[in-house]
Amino acid sequence: MTQKALDHLIERLGGLAPATALVLGSGLGNLVDRIDDPLRISYADLPGFPQSGVTGHAGELVAGLFAGMPVLMLSGRAHYYEHGNAAAMRPALEVLAGIGITRLILTNAAGSVDPEMPPGSVMLITDHINFSGTNPLIGEPSDRRFVGLTGAYDAGMRAAIEQAAKATGTTLHKGVYMWFSGPCFETPAEIRMARIMGANAVGMSTVPEVILARFLGLRVAACSVVTNLAAGMTGAELSHQETKDMAPVGGARLATILQRLFRDRSLEG
Ligand code: HPA
Repeated sequence: MTQKALDHLIERLGGLAPATALVLGSGLGNLVDRIDDPLRISYADLPGFPQSGVTGHAGELVAGLFAGMPVLMLSGRAHYYEHGNAAAMRPALEVLAGIGITRLILTNAAGSVDPEMPPGSVMLITDHINFSGTNPLIGEPSDRRFVGLTGAYDAGMRAAIEQAAKATGTTLHKGVYMWFSGPCFETPAEIRMARIMGANAVGMSTVPEVILARFLGLRVAACSVVTNLAAGMTGAELSHQETKDMAPVGGARLATILQRLFRDRSLEG
């Protein structure tokens, strides 16, 4: 299955050889509009890629030049809550590794646990807490499954992203992302717990991809776009519509940072 997608992608990419791939979260898909001369491939043509049913997730791979650098963006991802398979992104990430991607930048929409990090903020993920009770490497038979996650969020990539934020005058928060399985939002009690446990943001994605990417030897960075204060912090009920409506606000900030990151070639080091 992966081999077919790999062969198809290599053929379609022609000479383009991106080293960096991005995964775009809910409401962040319009980053692909910043790619020059985009080559668009539907996940339907890539066996093993997620046929996502979440609204706000397009389900296509877009490749081309971003600020003059070759890039590959995955617009649309599989979430654990869609089917109960934490490893649903494994084939897609294997294909990326197969075409020579060495760096992965993951993005997501998240709830903020910190009143000082309001909706519209961007948070560079420094570490995570896997609160889902599952792991995408369950069932992996080889000893390679014992992946170390001490340095999962690559120090060099983080420094480059911080530098790009600074250069563009964009506020970049830093913090710990806590993975809840979803699909329902958390309760106010769970958010109080998350805060005590050291989380700064909560969300329903990214962590399984970080684990799989480290398993595959990719360098990883991840950023959250805050769409809401988490459950119980405002008294208002949360909704997916709010996530979709608010993601583009922080998404525009994140796009500014990423464009500078690519323009400055600062990931190369
Ligand atoms: N919780 C979990 N996932 C989310 C949230 C949230 O408050 N906002 C956006 N994604």
